[in-house]
Amino acid sequence: MLTMAIQKKGRLSTSSIELLEHCGIHLKKTGHDKLKTSAVNFPLEVLFLRDDDIPRCVEDGIADIGIVGDNVVFETASDIEKVMPLGFGKCRMSIAVPKHVEYKDITSLEGKRIATSYDHILQNYLDKNNVNAGIHKISGSVEIAPGINMSEAIFDIVSTGSTLISNGLKEVEIILESEASIYSNNSLDKDKKDLIDKLCFRIRSVNTAKDYKYILLNVPNNKLDLVCNILPGMKSPTIMPLGKEGWSSVHSVINEDIFWDVIEQLKDAGAESLLVTDIEKMIL
Ligand code: PRP
Ligand code: ZN
Repeated sequence: MLTMAIQKKGRLSTSSIELLEHCGIHLKKTGHDKLKTSAVNFPLEVLFLRDDDIPRCVEDGIADIGIVGDNVVFETASDIEKVMPLGFGKCRMSIAVPKHVEYKDITSLEGKRIATSYDHILQNYLDKNNVNAGIHKISGSVEIAPGINMSEAIFDIVSTGSTLISNGLKEVEIILESEASIYSNNSLDKDKKDLIDKLCFRIRSVNTAKDYKYILLNVPNNKLDLVCNILPGMKSPTIMPLGKEGWSSVHSVINEDIFWDVIEQLKDAGAESLLVTDIEKMIL
């Protein structure tokens, strides 16, 4: 049995549960206040915790693994192992100042006050740059601080940037990038490690599938070579004869990044009746 800690509520909570669902792991329904549940079809127990508490719980072995933002792990300086990044909860951790304030570089903050919930990461960064600034620790609503004369700058998570804009702030330093990742305890037995491998295999299949589309198209046989050369496919494309004499159906997989370019080239090369669908899982 593997014990996993995930965020009870907040930015990562829904995505964490969805990820498990996409991996075919169904959690027993719980009441609103229940802080522990288990999976019906995987040896997994899930603890719902505040994200700040997850790294410590994994380090102490209360949970074997946890889904948590890299930023929280850095802040708590926990001795745990990163197993894999998950591709959601992406954000950066930045310093921001009121938008009309002149800012040159980090030395502009010498002697100033900076409000943050992440005092550890900030202090390290200031030390590294030999800047002396006062850190005002505040547990939320950090962007309010300059406007109420609590500080001259803030250091916080930036995701869309809209909280900064609506509080009249501009981002001046990006200190680190973060996303949700799986972290594990450092000394797990083989059975637990095997379960983690199994889980990661499923996560990779789900996440890889998100980057690709499945494409089907029809093409006259005299243009088959041309079309097949355009299709990057994972291996070579599947080609099947159509009922209509002299025509074939071609199936392949295309990376989302180059999708529209490839579609245009295929049309120019004589492909017709293109169908594109999402892929749910992809096992390479
Ligand atoms: C977080 C974070 C920033 C904001 C960034 O706050 O502390 O304030 O989100 O997101 P954005 O760039 O998309 O605007 P949260 O909403 O979690 O509230 P809190 O600060 O009270 O914890
Ligand atoms: Zn905030």
